[in-house]
Amino acid sequence: MSFDVALTRSQFPVLNQRVGKKRLAYLDNAATTHKPQAVMSAVDRYYGEYNSNIHRAVHTLSQKATEAYESSRQRVAEFLGADRPDEIVFTAGTTAGINLVANSWADQHIQPGDEILISHLEHHSNIVPWQLLCERRGCTLKVIPVLEDGQLDLSAYEQLLSERTRLVALSHVSNTLGVITPLDVMIPKAKEWGATVLIDGAQAVAHLPVNVTELGCDFYVFSGHKLYGPTGIGVLWGRGEVLHGMPPWQGGGDMIETVSFAGSTWAEPPARFEAGTPNIVGAIGLAAAIDYFDALDHAAVTAHEDALLRQATEALLNIPGLRILGTAEPKLSVISFTLEGVHPHDIGMILNKEGVAIRTGHHCTQPLMERFGLDATARASFALYNDQEDVSALLHGLETVRRLFA
Ligand code: ALA
Repeated sequence: MSFDVALTRSQFPVLNQRVGKKRLAYLDNAATTHKPQAVMSAVDRYYGEYNSNIHRAVHTLSQKATEAYESSRQRVAEFLGADRPDEIVFTAGTTAGINLVANSWADQHIQPGDEILISHLEHHSNIVPWQLLCERRGCTLKVIPVLEDGQLDLSAYEQLLSERTRLVALSHVSNTLGVITPLDVMIPKAKEWGATVLIDGAQAVAHLPVNVTELGCDFYVFSGHKLYGPTGIGVLWGRGEVLHGMPPWQGGGDMIETVSFAGSTWAEPPARFEAGTPNIVGAIGLAAAIDYFDALDHAAVTAHEDALLRQATEALLNIPGLRILGTAEPKLSVISFTLEGVHPHDIGMILNKEGVAIRTGHHCTQPLMERFGLDATARASFALYNDQEDVSALLHGLETVRRLFA
């Protein structure tokens, strides 16, 4: 197999449009990815052919919907290399998965004086739930520093680990820098101290092969919409024995075994953590996205994305006054940059007029921005459907920015 970017682009209808008079160059993939026709068709089929609630009725449509929802769980389990489908909890997204762990596992296990270890480059969704936990439980949040090139300070990490460390929560890939966290080193170190490990895979799943069994973590979370799937659906993978010991967080229908006014009992996981009608169509759309993605030649996709990243990085570094944040290797798919004398928001506005979509701001990583003495960067992020023309449009747009601010 190989990778045909023109064919791939034709499978993503939204790409075939102009912004004003310019061809759309969508380089905001770290925020969300577009959806292939296969995902949209799966969503349409659900609504058009068997829309129904799940787990609740014997009628044909409900049985079809239940079967599709549960086989989506099976598909996600295979994709992540999980032992069993019941280790897959459908959530609303990465943020919901982290909050579930914080409010269930952590509320049960964390005592006053315990420490939660995160890194300086985490997304707010992997900071704030732990701050709320610390307020509730009297534990302490510790932070692994980030070096100048965007890599984590591994010797500081070793110093910070201790018998007080109960949880280590790390992103697999930084959403702001694109730098890959060395989990093969960091997870075993956490385990030497008996810590539980949660990995935020939001920026990883669309670019790296993920196998939760090989990683050796306890929780892995991601969002469907960054993997060419729908918004509002995500996954919490939890190691079977850990998940089984966890109390429910949200109560409601489908998460119970029995309910009486004397007291209620809980269903086994994953149902225990899926109270209420879940995002049925989201799960079905996510499975379709995984089917689409997994049918590709991953080595060829990685080589394609990597070539674009390198080509764009080299060209950007030739622009006077341009600084790239996060130069550590290995990195993928993201270039965060500043341009001397121009606010990132102005860069974003001018690029938009050129048809180029990037994200500007703090990227939900304010502590990381502060670390680098900035309040914002411009960020271009790549996906498998990006091509040379997108990179050229970015470079052309930046020439316009420089001309306007000269
Ligand atoms: N977390 C997403 C981003 O980095 C929204 O843009």
